[in-house]
Amino acid sequence: MNQPPRIALTHVSKRFASPHGKQPGQQVLSDVSLALQEGEFVCLLGASGCGKSTILNLLAGFEQPDQGQLLINGQPITGPGPDRGMVFQQPTLFPWLSVLDNVTFGPRMAGQTRQQYLAQAERQLRQVGLQDYADHFPWQLSGGMRQRAALARAWLPNPDILLMDEPFGALDAQTRLAMQELLTQIWQNTGTTLLFVTHDVDEALFLADRVLIMSSQPGRIREELHVPFERPRNIEDLVAEPAYGQLKRRILHVVREEAAKSLQTETS
Ligand SMILES: Nc1ncnc2c1ncn2[C@@H]1O[C@H](COP(=O)(O)OP(=O)(O)OP(=O)(O)O)[C@@H](O)[C@H]1O
Ligand SMILES: [Mg+2]
Repeated sequence: MNQPPRIALTHVSKRFASPHGKQPGQQVLSDVSLALQEGEFVCLLGASGCGKSTILNLLAGFEQPDQGQLLINGQPITGPGPDRGMVFQQPTLFPWLSVLDNVTFGPRMAGQTRQQYLAQAERQLRQVGLQDYADHFPWQLSGGMRQRAALARAWLPNPDILLMDEPFGALDAQTRLAMQELLTQIWQNTGTTLLFVTHDVDEALFLADRVLIMSSQPGRIREELHVPFERPRNIEDLVAEPAYGQLKRRILHVVREEAAKSLQTETS
């Protein structure tokens, strides 16, 4: 029997109520269908406000769809669960906890003992190069190191799926590239299925097996592009490939068209 996709959205629609409850509210997603196979790395691109974070929130179990179905391994989502991790644009670490206590926050809250989680936490810290910073506090770390701690925390329960919402958006270009390489390595070691939201076309082409581009207002999947480059990828070689320029041009064209449409809607 065929394995069901790791993630499947079929005909998903979502409307948010207006703040005053009188207007009909905003149709954010309309008839969104997409599927990710186990171990796939997919980037989601689209204009601001088109519903990218809403898709991640539905998959995380933080929101419910109005219509359509969201399945994980063929099973409906009933709420948040340890099989799905989330990484946000800001690292969201607790400032009063050490790196180790931040990374192990989930298992500690679930009542696990230090003995149960320590070896795995140390492995995760080594994986992101923070083994010498376990006792540091977030304010003693650079932005990139904080985001590495957030990656270690997200991977600690060994999730099947990681939902990443512009996780490197606040980093400088060099740190961002280092984080992209680190993420690719961890992904290849773990086989986690990754749905990664970004506004950065180069980031999407460096990371993804597939790129999904959304339309605006209401959000739909407008275009899907296969990223054909072999792994491991090297950014210097990649940018020299003619196919890289062609894909980048196509994505920029669609994203700009959608961004212009959403600006028109906002100002009309
Ligand atoms: N909980 C909520 N209640 C009401 N409206 C919401 C809620 N969450 C999102 N929205 C609205 O839904 C629309 C889509 O929001 P969403 O955060 O999914 O966009 P996005 O594509 O992630 O944008 P960005 O690229 O700026 O992060 C926005 O207009 C937003 O105001
Ligand atoms: Mg967002």
